Amino acid sequence: MSKPRVFSGVQPTGNLHLGNYLGAIRNWVKLQADHECLYCVVDLHAITVWQEPADLTRSTREVAASLIAAGIDPAGAILFNQSKVAAHAELAWIFNCVARVGWMNRMTQFKEKAGKHRENASLGLYAYPALMAADILVYKATHVPVGEDQKQHLELTRDVAQKFNSDYGVDYFPLTEPLIYGAATRVMSLRDGSKKMSKSDPSDMSRINLIDDADTIAGKIRKARTDPEPVPVAPPASEDERAARPEAYNLMGIYAALTDKSLAEVADEFGGAPFSAFKGALTDVAVAVMGPITAEMRRLMDHPDEIDAILHQGAEDAREIAAPILREVYDIVGLLRP
Ligand code: TYM
Repeated sequence: MSKPRVFSGVQPTGNLHLGNYLGAIRNWVKLQADHECLYCVVDLHAITVWQEPADLTRSTREVAASLIAAGIDPAGAILFNQSKVAAHAELAWIFNCVARVGWMNRMTQFKEKAGKHRENASLGLYAYPALMAADILVYKATHVPVGEDQKQHLELTRDVAQKFNSDYGVDYFPLTEPLIYGAATRVMSLRDGSKKMSKSDPSDMSRINLIDDADTIAGKIRKARTDPEPVPVAPPASEDERAARPEAYNLMGIYAALTDKSLAEVADEFGGAPFSAFKGALTDVAVAVMGPITAEMRRLMDHPDEIDAILHQGAEDAREIAAPILREVYDIVGLLRP
C-alpha cells in the first residue's frame, strides 16, 4: 500500500511565527513518519499582494530554512518553492475556468485582504483559492494539514474537484481532507485576543517569530495582554465563555500546544494562579521549544547554497509527480498535450 499523500503550503511574506508553527508546521513534521509529504513555499501566492523583489527572494529562503529547522526532513519530504514547478500555474488556469465567480465572492480571506479597496485588488488575489486548489490537486493530495483560517479555502478545493469531475464526467480528482488539529489551530495576537496572530500585524509585539531570541520571547510574553482575573480553572464551556476571556484562553492554548497537553491539563496545573506566574512557565517552554529551531535557522541562513540545493531537488521531485497528472488533465479537458 502506498502512503497517503500530504500537501501543504506557507507564504514567504516575512518571518514564520508561533501561529504558523503550532497551527500547521508542527503537524507537517509529525505527518512525515507515515505519509508522502510535499511542502511548498508558495511564492506565487505571495505576489497576489505587492512584494519587494529582494524581500521576496530573502523570505523564500528564510521560510524554507525555518521549515527545515522546525523538522521538515528534505531527505524524506519534498520541500520546494511553488514558482519552480510550472504545473501549479498551468492547472490553476484550468481551475480558473472551473471555479465560479460566486464562489470567490464568498471567500472571507479575500474580503479581509482586499478590504475597502476591492476594486483595486489584484486579479491574482481574487483567484488565489483556485491556485491553492491547483497546488493540492496537481499531486492528487488527499490530506492537507493547515490552521483553522484555511478551512474555507479547502472547502473550495473540494468544490473545484467535484465540479471538474462532474463537468467532465470523470472520477479523477480526490476530495481532499483538511487536517486541522492540536490545541492551537487558531493562535491569537498577544496584544488583542480577538485577532489572529499574523505576519501582517503592524505590531511585532503581537506575535512570537521563529527568529526571536530568548529575551525577545520573554519580553513579548511578559507584555502579552491578559485580564485581571487569575488563570481559568477549566477550559471554556462555550464559545461565549472563550470570547469573554480570549487572551487568557489563547495563552493557555499556546502552553498546551507547546507541551503536548490538553487545555484541561493546563487548567488543572495552573488554574487559580496569577498570570504573572503562568507567563513565567510559558516563557520557559516557549524558549525551550523554539531555541533550537532558531539556532538551526540562523545557521542555515548563513548557507543559502544549502537551502537552494534542497529547493532545487524538491522541485525536481515535485515535477516528476505533477507531470503525468497534468498530462491526464489535458486529455480529459481536450487540450492537445504540450
Ligand atoms: P499562511 O502562509 O498564511 O500560513 C501557513 C500556515 O499557518 C497557519 N496559520 C495559523 N495557524 C494557527 N494560528 C494562526 N494564527 C495562524 N496563522 C497561520 C495557516 O492556517 C497555514 O496552514 N493559503 C495558505 C498557503 C497555501 C496552502 C496551499 C495551504 C497555498 N497553497 C495549499 C495548504 C494547501 C496561506 O496563506 O498560509
